Amino acid sequence: MAEADGTGGGTFQTLTADVIAALRQAKSVFVLTGSGTSAESGLPTFRGVGGLWRTHRVEELASPEGFARDPVLVWTWYNERKAAHERAQPNAGHDALAQLERSLRDFTLATQNVDSLHQRAGSRNVVELHGSLREARCTRCDARRLFDATGLPLDEIDHSCGGRWRPDIVWFGESLPPAAWHQAQEAAARADVILVVGTSAVVYPAAALATHYNDRAFVVEINPDRTAISERVDCVLTGTAAGVLPHLLTN
Ligand code: OAD
Repeated sequence: MAEADGTGGGTFQTLTADVIAALRQAKSVFVLTGSGTSAESGLPTFRGVGGLWRTHRVEELASPEGFARDPVLVWTWYNERKAAHERAQPNAGHDALAQLERSLRDFTLATQNVDSLHQRAGSRNVVELHGSLREARCTRCDARRLFDATGLPLDEIDHSCGGRWRPDIVWFGESLPPAAWHQAQEAAARADVILVVGTSAVVYPAAALATHYNDRAFVVEINPDRTAISERVDCVLTGTAAGVLPHLLTN
């Protein structure tokens, strides 16, 4: 595994050139992103300093049992997150990935994020592994409704069918949406280059997309810190998404 610090040193430039060359030759590119990709847009990660799961109880806010116990608490929290997503702007990392997609024929970006910032930056082929905070769905009849920038009004949580509106995201103990998972797995398997950006790679099955389905691809991690997969990838560009990703663009 080759590694370089993204502060502009010679090793970083050499490795970046290797990644650019690999991207140029690639017929197919797969990208897996996590919350670190949006950190420079001002959104917190989950496990880092100030991370959401350091200050909030995951079982209360991100599980079907927690929602059944206290739906108002859960919606209050997701409404605040939704408002923060709306206030945030895509950063140079999101922009670079959108630009990279435009230069490649087969490009898939699978994200664990629910903030829609990749789409707002212009990314097209985005697979949302953990759902999104654009829609609510009914716990009983599976109906869907969009909710706006302020989220779901707390007096509208009950649905007329007897169920409740819940955020259309994946909670702990739940399966990933089958179509999204299938699409991401196939894209990971056929990729020549895999970029893994801003994720601690500890939440499965999403993390498996980085290293489990393809032993042929050139796997590049972009992260300021070491992660669960740093030892297993081909190249680590140590730095932030907004700091490193623009260097991978050649035009
Ligand atoms: P984590 O909080 O686990 O990891 C965030 C990663 O981003 C860490 O490896 C950081 O080092 C890195 N990071 C921080 N700032 C960065 C920056 N500016 N540029 C690039 N990387 C940076 O978040 P995720 O890996 O996204 O799931 O967590 C995965 C899943 O766990 C989430 O989708 C969520 C959570 O529980 C659900 O809610 C289902």
